[in-house]
Amino acid sequence: MKICYIVAMVAEAKPFIERYGMKEKPGFFSPLPCRMYEAKVGESELYVVLNGQQNGSDLVGCEAASVATLSAIERLHPDLVINSGTCGAFRADGADIADVYIGNSAMFHDRRVPGDDAWGTQSLGNYAVWHRSPEVAEALGFKMGKVTTGSSLDMQPCDLEIIKANGGQLKDMEGAAVGFVCSLFSTPILYVKSVTDLCDSGTETFDEFSRNLGKACEALKNANERIIEWLIER
Ligand code: ADE
Repeated sequence: MKICYIVAMVAEAKPFIERYGMKEKPGFFSPLPCRMYEAKVGESELYVVLNGQQNGSDLVGCEAASVATLSAIERLHPDLVINSGTCGAFRADGADIADVYIGNSAMFHDRRVPGDDAWGTQSLGNYAVWHRSPEVAEALGFKMGKVTTGSSLDMQPCDLEIIKANGGQLKDMEGAAVGFVCSLFSTPILYVKSVTDLCDSGTETFDEFSRNLGKACEALKNANERIIEWLIER
């Protein structure tokens, strides 16, 4: 099985890359900014594709995630894409810092396009996940939630309105973009998201995100290790 992780931030991928002793293939995607790491785990090929950096910071967001996903699928032909990363969630839904969720679908929460139903539906996205996602969650004891993606870390009232109206639970900046590209290739996608901040905590999001990033990324690594084990046993 070829498994390809799409990850936005170095901090989110580093513990995992170290755990599997993954080696970078420098310049693999040149001139694109994405970076590729690889390792063999049993009979499976494991890849991590990072969005890359610009001006000294990680390229978070939908544009870089789309470029990374498109390039990864075209060059590596994975059987499964895993979008692993951090997210915001809601205390009101029972979420806590460093909880790990498996996504049950992915949509955009900040694409407000007026017009007929077709425009509105296409703007929201609503991409399907790998059909075995519920099995992964059940087998390993993870909660499931709907990933909602936008281009900002903060949350405006109009974002919250769309998130709530559509049953969104996990707020990130890449998930639906990765899902969109996967949908074009019919490549299955599994979402693994760890909570850095609670959108309804009343705390400044960036402070909460920064404070909890290390803890959430450690939880993410532990979750992914168990997921890889589960996947290669199949
Ligand atoms: N990544 C981590 N926390 C986030 C949040 N609250 N919104 C968007 N992306 C995030």
